[in-house]
Amino acid sequence: SGGSLTMRVFVDCDPGIDDAVALAYLAARPDVEIAGVGAVFGNNAVEVTADNALRLLELYGRPDVPVAVGCARPLVQEPRLAPHVHGTNGLGEVELPEPARKPVAESAPELLVRLARENPGELDVLAVGPLTNLAVAVGMEPKLPQLVRKLVVMGGAVSTPGNVGPHGEANIVNDPEAAETVFGAGFDLDLVALDVTMGTVATPEWLAELALVPGDKAQHTTGFLDFYADFYSRIYGVRQCAMHDPLAAAVLVDPRLVTGSFEAPIRVETAGTLTRGMTVADRRPVPSTDERRPVRVVTSVADAEFLRLMLDALR
Ligand code: BDR
Ligand code: CA
Repeated sequence: SGGSLTMRVFVDCDPGIDDAVALAYLAARPDVEIAGVGAVFGNNAVEVTADNALRLLELYGRPDVPVAVGCARPLVQEPRLAPHVHGTNGLGEVELPEPARKPVAESAPELLVRLARENPGELDVLAVGPLTNLAVAVGMEPKLPQLVRKLVVMGGAVSTPGNVGPHGEANIVNDPEAAETVFGAGFDLDLVALDVTMGTVATPEWLAELALVPGDKAQHTTGFLDFYADFYSRIYGVRQCAMHDPLAAAVLVDPRLVTGSFEAPIRVETAGTLTRGMTVADRRPVPSTDERRPVRVVTSVADAEFLRLMLDALR
């Protein structure tokens, strides 16, 4: 990353079971400095996702990373949470110890903007929840896309079915206006959408292997993923689960895991009842008339290697 040994990463998230595994992965990498974590509403209320982030950073050995509370609701619509997917506590009903700390006084958008200004061209951003905090941050600092090195977003369903509607993926549908702002802001942006995450699963064998790893880190994570696999088994027909957010973290840290991608400008549909929150890529073969900076949409990854990296991180 930019010639320096350590990557500096701001994580915006709504933990959330797969968010937890993404944090575990980043926390286990000695070459990653987690500069800050922003919490956003999404899988649960923002107070809960912030509290979960604090608990998870302690579990995964990064108890000093600042956690900032972000937006409690989308820019326009009412919030919709997902206790049926992530449990009533956002972590599959696994009770982690009370955190020793509180969130910092700055809001998540304020923390992100300050870190980006202090580290121009050196801060990477991983966004694995609704994009509300990022949209607010762009409003506070319109040069944010130039200050940030790279943004990796987990969200959207570009050429594949949605997961909360025919075309809608949860993170984007939870705040389409915010997502539209972020896709149009000019970031160097990699998109890890359902197109690739639904096929990149923690298999029954992988989950069984993790369950055998001793220690709190692996055992609590097994507990989270058990709940997640219960939900996803209804979709896949076997006890396995999609690795949405960890895949986005891995693509940020190890871009060589990407084996297929295309570039296209993306707009988020904010109208319609069936299409609100749809991520529309302009892939016309004639030169696109869209002047928006293209997004790199990941379509395939080296999944065996990805799963091995995840297991190593949880050992
Ligand atoms: C995304 O939605 C959330 O529930 C997950 O944590 C992930 O970020 C998948 O659509
Ligand atoms: Ca998430």
